[in-house]
Amino acid sequence: MGKLVVAIDGPAGAGKSTVARIAAEKLGYTYIDTGAMYRAVAWKVLQTGKAVTDALIVDVVKDIEVLLEYKNDKTYVYADGQDITGEIRTPEVTGIVSQVAALGPVREKMVDLQRKMAEKGGVLMDGRDIATNVLPNADVKLFLTASIEERARRRFKEMQEKGYDVKLEELQADIAARDKADSEREISPLVQAEDAELLDTSDMSIDQVVEAILARCR
Ligand code: DC
Repeated sequence: MGKLVVAIDGPAGAGKSTVARIAAEKLGYTYIDTGAMYRAVAWKVLQTGKAVTDALIVDVVKDIEVLLEYKNDKTYVYADGQDITGEIRTPEVTGIVSQVAALGPVREKMVDLQRKMAEKGGVLMDGRDIATNVLPNADVKLFLTASIEERARRRFKEMQEKGYDVKLEELQADIAARDKADSEREISPLVQAEDAELLDTSDMSIDQVVEAILARCR
């Protein structure tokens, strides 16, 4: 089997990163978490301490150097050389990342980087616009989703394990708001590619979803 390019898209909390990471490990591929790149930009915007406006975001993205490093089956995220892996999944970053990801200059810079990372193949990339825009020629295209209730429950568990005091109803409302923002934005909105296969993971275990991905790669 040659080194494939695998694109996995879907809404927040569908479990993309969990299953993509395991599938990449099993395939010996590099996992590329594109959401982490938009989160890195959002993180740097917050670091300025200024009111978050589109103009500020565009200003920040001009200078930022975002780097994803995949080693020992783990993704490390760097902004201007600083390891910010542990700082990009906070509620504060999550709260502004859809606004950040909606802006053309941000997307242009991140998509360029993403295409370069996929050039040699052997990658599994997850995001919102991978099959439709970043890698339209990907060998395998999947669109992962799950009911909003199930996605909220998964995020709730994840945040609780990290020690955040979150409420399920609030998380569900946040996810719904992010779904709306990501799906309705003008540039590369979240949408299932015509040639992508839909996988509803609501009633599937992590292992089952991983196996479904691996089956498509055989
Ligand atoms: O997958 P995530 O929650 O880490 O993604 C963070 C945000 O980044 C999400 O709200 C939408 C945006 N995003 C995007 O617009 N395009 C991608 N390819 C990946 C993420």
